Amino acid sequence: MTTAAAYARLDLTGRSIIVTGAGSGLGRATAQLIAARGALVTVADVNAEAGGATVAEIEAAGGTAQFVATDITDESAVRDLVAAAVSAYGGLHGAHNNAGINGPAALAGDLGYDQWRQVLDINLNGVFLCLKYELAHMKENGGGSIVNTASTAAAIAYPNIPAYVASKHGVLGVTRQAALDYIRYGVRVNAVLPGSVWTPLAESALKDPEIRAKAESAQPIGRLGEPHEIAEMVAWLLSDAASFAVGSPFFVDGGVNAG
Ligand SMILES: NC(=O)c1ccc[n+]([C@@H]2O[C@H](COP(=O)([O-])OP(=O)(O)OC[C@H]3O[C@@H](n4cnc5c(N)ncnc54)[C@H](O)[C@@H]3O)[C@@H](O)[C@H]2O)c1
Repeated sequence: MTTAAAYARLDLTGRSIIVTGAGSGLGRATAQLIAARGALVTVADVNAEAGGATVAEIEAAGGTAQFVATDITDESAVRDLVAAAVSAYGGLHGAHNNAGINGPAALAGDLGYDQWRQVLDINLNGVFLCLKYELAHMKENGGGSIVNTASTAAAIAYPNIPAYVASKHGVLGVTRQAALDYIRYGVRVNAVLPGSVWTPLAESALKDPEIRAKAESAQPIGRLGEPHEIAEMVAWLLSDAASFAVGSPFFVDGGVNAG
């Protein structure tokens, strides 16, 4: 393969790709990076102001994007999101199902059932709803690539966040399961497993400088990640360069899973 052909496999020119939770953090970084590589990005978020700001940044940089206000726990909104991407950009070739929340820090015995359900509803049921409509479209239209945002909490437990750990284990489970069923239709489904990354979500959990220092030193690399460091993996998985990557957990975590 020539150098030009190798780089071409990373290119996303003309690909219609949905990114959920793209108003902030990891989703915004993915949306910006894939737009820079030529993707036509549908930015989905429950926060309209934040989603609109992501679209404005992409357009200012010369990229193409649209905002679709979406609560991923609302099935009809997710169905409309997929339809909006297809109608604006002539199809759907990829998706980063990324929107998620931390939920409260509490022992399982102290966690309200409503709090448990809210985390599972957004982090797991929301990913399922996105998969449902994306997979149905891709199955009938020549395939695609889907990346779900899990977490190192999909592979190991952390104290005090029972719903989050369960939801992220579930995201990895549904990723592997969908990959098995849909690879025969040309759809690759994978998961990215970030370690602690400096985003508004992490900021809320790491406000206390002592807790932040602890989080930094818990990662063998000695620092938190930056959103673009996760986006690089997602953009690779969305591209043809990842053509043999199917149903796998891709850690990007500063070494957490190594030890
Ligand atoms: N930041 C980290 O350290 C870290 C580590 C591992 C995994 N993750 C995961 O990465 C994903 C993104 O996290 P982040 O750090 O970028 O968070 P963030 O809070 O910066 O961004 C999350 C975005 O999702 C949106 N959102 C929340 N609920 C939604 C809903 N119901 N429908 C649509 N949009 C919704 C929010 O409005 C926000 O814009 C999450 O799934 C999170 O669990 C983050």
